[in-house]
Amino acid sequence: MTTSSNPPNSVTPDQTSGMWGGRFSEATDAFVAEFTASVQFDQRFYKQDIAGSIAHATMLTKVGVLTEAERDDIIEGLSTIRSEIEAGNFEWRIDLEDVHMNIESRLTQRIGITGKKLHTGRSRNDQVATDIRLYLRDEIDDILKLLERLQKGLLGLAAKNVNTIMPGFTHLQTAQPVTFGHHLLAWFEMLVRDTERLQDCRKRVNRMPLGSAALAGTTYPIDRAYTAELLGFEAVSENSLDAVSDRDFAIEFNAAAALIMMHLSRMSEELILWTSAQFKFVNIPDRFCTGSSIMPQKKNPDVPELIRGKSGRVFGDLISLLTLMKGQPLAYNKDNQEDKEPLFDAIDTVRGSLMAFADMIPALVPNIEIMREAALRGFSTATDLADHLVKKGVAFRDAHEIVGKAVALGVAEEKDLSELTLEQLQQFSDLITADVFDKALTLEASVNARDHIGGTSPKQVEAAIARAHTRLEQLYA
Ligand code: ARG
Repeated sequence: MTTSSNPPNSVTPDQTSGMWGGRFSEATDAFVAEFTASVQFDQRFYKQDIAGSIAHATMLTKVGVLTEAERDDIIEGLSTIRSEIEAGNFEWRIDLEDVHMNIESRLTQRIGITGKKLHTGRSRNDQVATDIRLYLRDEIDDILKLLERLQKGLLGLAAKNVNTIMPGFTHLQTAQPVTFGHHLLAWFEMLVRDTERLQDCRKRVNRMPLGSAALAGTTYPIDRAYTAELLGFEAVSENSLDAVSDRDFAIEFNAAAALIMMHLSRMSEELILWTSAQFKFVNIPDRFCTGSSIMPQKKNPDVPELIRGKSGRVFGDLISLLTLMKGQPLAYNKDNQEDKEPLFDAIDTVRGSLMAFADMIPALVPNIEIMREAALRGFSTATDLADHLVKKGVAFRDAHEIVGKAVALGVAEEKDLSELTLEQLQQFSDLITADVFDKALTLEASVNARDHIGGTSPKQVEAAIARAHTRLEQLYA
């Protein structure tokens, strides 16, 4: 079949076969061209593609494959194309399949034959792997900045609430009093681990596959270390087969993103509970909420709800990438083109969610009195009464039994332990003394007594906040 007998559906040969026309006797089917294209979504890393090409051309000149004049033409051409794209004057052509061929084709259109030399010694396989890594590296840096802003917001709110007492929960049942500052520092710790994970992931993102060419390397005397230096990569990949097919770095990122979303989802769940009429612990300013079209009284915590929902997408993005990779033989396979959308979706979702949280957290208003009231309900200082008895020589298991009986009385009388009289308490143990109210049964006594690293006492929380600021400085140094 010749190109003149193309089926009616096919695009014209000069549209598709410019990059590989030699071997083909008919043009790509129009649907297939669209189905196999990635330019709709990979154009988002045009900047990294151009930077990679400029570095590649610069390296080719250094090793004598291109002349300086050719290099300069290429760099000028690519810079102009970058401006065209940024000005919205670039025509993205689906028949040119992806960002790489769109830019290369336009370069040749602009600067002529020299444009056709740019692809010497490389393949789209190492090119795309390089582009995604450059792109993801930039995104990780932005996400780290958002994380830092959120972490600082949490520390700020915690500092204002070192003495704010709320019930701490296990099984969502009132357990022991904690300080609100301490609770916020728990969120902070989750996010610190997220930072560490992203920073660790970035190390493996920041290795350069370029030079692997299609799969086996290239016959040109390339200087990979030089290209890597130009692009700010920490190292070059060690094995060309692995380098063009490896997407571990994207999976690692999506795993780190999934954990961030899981954390934000847990925080969201607490905010949703806390803003309900049943808890009323916290108020989220109106600008982060929406109303109901039918129920005039409603103020819904949409932002946390949406983030809780969006966590599911990012978990899905992680599973997509793992599944994408599991059956692939070495080296590059077209399957890999499917790496982009789950990666981009995870990036966009985690960015948006972190931005919303970073804005919302400093604006939260705790209802200090209501939190305190809630901590007074639910016998939150029962463990403290047991500890009071242990200090008088009672074995903990026996103390537990004694306090259990006191709680049963409180339940019957609808009174907190601190509201029972000394006489009432003493009927369970004559070792209970009058100082029990000040030293054990009050909320303040309870939190103050947990006075060690990691404990909830205001003194410890204050120290933890100070350490947290130093840790942030070290983390983001
Ligand atoms: N658009 C492709 C991708 O995203 C680029 C690499 C294509 N390589 C190939 N041999 N078809 O993976």
